Amino acid sequence: MADFIVKGKNRAFSGEITPPGDKSVSHRAVILGSLARGKTRAGGFLASRDTLATVNAFQNMGVSVQARAGALEISGKGLFGLKPPRGTIDAENSGTTARLLSGLLSAQKFSCEITGDSSLQSRPMSRVTVPLRMMGALISAQEEKLPLRIKGSPLQGIDYRTPVASAQVKSALLLAGLYASGRTSVTEPERTRDHTERMLRYFGVPVETSGTRVSVSPGDSFAATELEIPSDISSAVFFIVAALINPGSEIMVRSVGLNVLRTGALDILGEMGADISIENRRECCGEPVGDVIARHRALRAVRIEGDSVSRAIDELPVFSVAECFADGETVISGAGDLRVKETDRISAMTGELSKLGADIRETEDGMVINGTGELRGARCASRGDHRVAMSLAVAATRAWGETVVEDTGCVSISFPEFFSLFEALSKGK
Ligand code: S3P
Repeated sequence: MADFIVKGKNRAFSGEITPPGDKSVSHRAVILGSLARGKTRAGGFLASRDTLATVNAFQNMGVSVQARAGALEISGKGLFGLKPPRGTIDAENSGTTARLLSGLLSAQKFSCEITGDSSLQSRPMSRVTVPLRMMGALISAQEEKLPLRIKGSPLQGIDYRTPVASAQVKSALLLAGLYASGRTSVTEPERTRDHTERMLRYFGVPVETSGTRVSVSPGDSFAATELEIPSDISSAVFFIVAALINPGSEIMVRSVGLNVLRTGALDILGEMGADISIENRRECCGEPVGDVIARHRALRAVRIEGDSVSRAIDELPVFSVAECFADGETVISGAGDLRVKETDRISAMTGELSKLGADIRETEDGMVINGTGELRGARCASRGDHRVAMSLAVAATRAWGETVVEDTGCVSISFPEFFSLFEALSKGK
């Protein structure tokens, strides 16, 4: 699949962009829009391979979902209106699709099977199947991996303390909880992105939050609504880091989702001394939003640990790039979950950045990076992971000579326009 070639050094990034809609919020708009009564319009929806896997799943269960005038129109069927799917539901590369749907579909009056591509088939599902079975779900799976065979059954609410800080687990249980008898509560080791809770409330469904505990009760059907999805901070961050590490850069990234459980990246960059400011703060569909301005400035190394890790989990690959240009030694720890993402992101970033001459090594649950301020062009590989591909393209902007990033078709999983925006913002020759 397509290689991307970057001629590095002196590529200032400048101008304005509005990155595509937030991936997590886009999935939830399709899911809750399908369960609502009536037509939900979701402006700013991200049309990417992951989110289209969720759209396909609901179309396959009888929901009409159509792109119209820059928005997605979802003709919701109500809480009890989904039809048995024809054939297996294919979540492709999308962990969010597979895990959130496993919760929702455990509670339906039909049976189904969920599968995914080879990467997703290797990722752990026990984090959702174990608590769902405690609720009474009938799920069978070999070695707790996809495909999951789910026989819809009546569920009971549980009070579950999850060992992993995962919004996908929490969301799967909350969606199942909409159908369970009694209350369903999930307590997390640390708070994770709360898009499901915010969007449920936006649709008028009560959700209680107290510290790290979130609860829902079964309720009546809820009505459709209109929502405007913010730009994805996890996509914006590639350009923010590109601007920070390339002298002469200044970019404005518009309408970025600034949910406090997602802005770990901006906080860490702030600690590193980055020149970042936020203007025009506002709210879209219950999510805080603002325009982010980033300018080149020298960075210093920091420790990345504790709750910053879950608040910046998807940004850590591109952080490992920023740290190559920060003064001092960066230690990232407590990030073992990176090993079970679309690829093992600890091994991928240390392996691929080493090819570019970075001083980086892996630890069991993170990385140690010495900022040398220098990289050299080489061939490196995305390993089929969209965030690795985009991180390497950013690294290449500051590498001497030519860098070839192999197999970059995977960027369409979350950010199909990445390379055209990259060329448009970068003035390099
Ligand atoms: C997501 C949650 C996170 C994140 C993923 C999207 C979501 O995964 O890494 O890209 O939309 O809920 P985990 O829940 O596995 O941490």
